[in-house]
Amino acid sequence: MEKQEIRKYVLEKLQKMEHSSDKQVKQIHQNLYFNKIWYKSLVIGITMSKSPEISTKEIITEAWRMGKKVAIPKCNPTDKSMEFYIINSVDQTELSFYGVLEPIPDLCERLNPNQIDLLIVPGLAFNRNGYRIGFGGGYYDRFLSRYYGPTIALAYEWQTDLDFYEEIHDKKVDCILTEF
Ligand SMILES: Nc1ncnc2c1ncn2[C@@H]1O[C@H](COP(=O)(O)OP(=O)(O)O)[C@@H](O)[C@H]1O
Ligand SMILES: [Mg+2]
Repeated sequence: MEKQEIRKYVLEKLQKMEHSSDKQVKQIHQNLYFNKIWYKSLVIGITMSKSPEISTKEIITEAWRMGKKVAIPKCNPTDKSMEFYIINSVDQTELSFYGVLEPIPDLCERLNPNQIDLLIVPGLAFNRNGYRIGFGGGYYDRFLSRYYGPTIALAYEWQTDLDFYEEIHDKKVDCILTEF
């Protein structure tokens, strides 16, 4: 299938299952908390999820509870780049252009990619080789070309073996955690 068709298919399916998937989302979160890299990492790069994506709010709260630092990206639509900033509370965020909560740069510390210990990469779909389809901006493909640390994606099992060809600029994630 074409990437665009897959985005549409996945978004529609996520919307339909949104209110019936709490148990699976909890299991995905638990599988992250049991992961050794999560456990060891002090600085977590993660996005603030937006419905109907798998929620990351609980993950951010858990990271803070464990004494980890949380960094979230600010997107620059002009060149489709991203920079991560540490946030200590949601008061340091604002709604962006895309409808996603982003850091308020004046209130936050900016990080270089190599200061992130673990990057949780959002994605709509993955193929068997671990390549991902995002929302179509290519933001993570660009960021991953200058980030060399570990990456984990969170997804329902059905999102992890969709059939598409990766393109030359697409980047892989190291590991996908599902509800199983
Ligand atoms: N490292 C990069 N440098 C320049 N352009 C890139 C890079 N990575 C992706 N792009 C561009 O971003 C656009 C969106 O990429 P795509 O892979 O379709 O989106 P997504 O990964 O968000 O699903 C494409 O036009 C692609 O050429
Ligand atoms: Mg891509």
